[in-house]
Amino acid sequence: MKYFIANWKANKNLVQANQWLDEFLTFTPTDKSVRIVICPPFSLLYPVKEKISKFSNIYLGAQDLSQYEEGSFTGEVTVKTLSGLVDYAIIGHSERRKYFAEKYDLLLKKTNLAKKYDIEPVFCIRDEKDQIPEGVEIVAYEPLNAIGTGQNEPVERVLEMKKKLQLTYQISFLYGGSLDKNNATAYLKSGDINGLLIGGSSLNPSEFYDIVNLT
Ligand code: PGA
Repeated sequence: MKYFIANWKANKNLVQANQWLDEFLTFTPTDKSVRIVICPPFSLLYPVKEKISKFSNIYLGAQDLSQYEEGSFTGEVTVKTLSGLVDYAIIGHSERRKYFAEKYDLLLKKTNLAKKYDIEPVFCIRDEKDQIPEGVEIVAYEPLNAIGTGQNEPVERVLEMKKKLQLTYQISFLYGGSLDKNNATAYLKSGDINGLLIGGSSLNPSEFYDIVNLT
């Protein structure tokens, strides 16, 4: 089974999300060995959920979640409000680490909260120095210099990272960073990479579909 996670980041409004879905869902793959996870901004989670609900291999993910469980935290999006809505949550994305100074202790809190509410964390690491919390089952390796730069990490180096992690962790191992329909095949063909986390190329439904279809 291979994951294809679309990380829309802080892009798209309601109209654009609907256009994306209308296009993508017309050519949705029925292949059960593919698991598509769409991660729109929080404000678009519900409309996306409504449209994907009849597709058994398309899931919904949050791009982050609050460190607080519930309560008087104006503006926060907590696991409690996300539970029953999303299946996955990206935690520890390098943009959260960089722009919002998120450190391991905070990421650990978020991971544990997600688990508590049956939301599967997709835990992002930038290199082997980034710790992975216990119980994490899906790890996305996203080297800093590969994100949004057009310089995807060579497959051999990605596989080396998987080998290292495998010594300590039993995980599904994903790669992310400047993926597109031309370079994604190599990762998928390697057989050892359990899926892809796709940013820029997921914003266009036909490009994202082409990548999913490479399997
Ligand atoms: P990118 O982003 O595909 O645009 O490089 C990947 C990510 O940040 O998850």
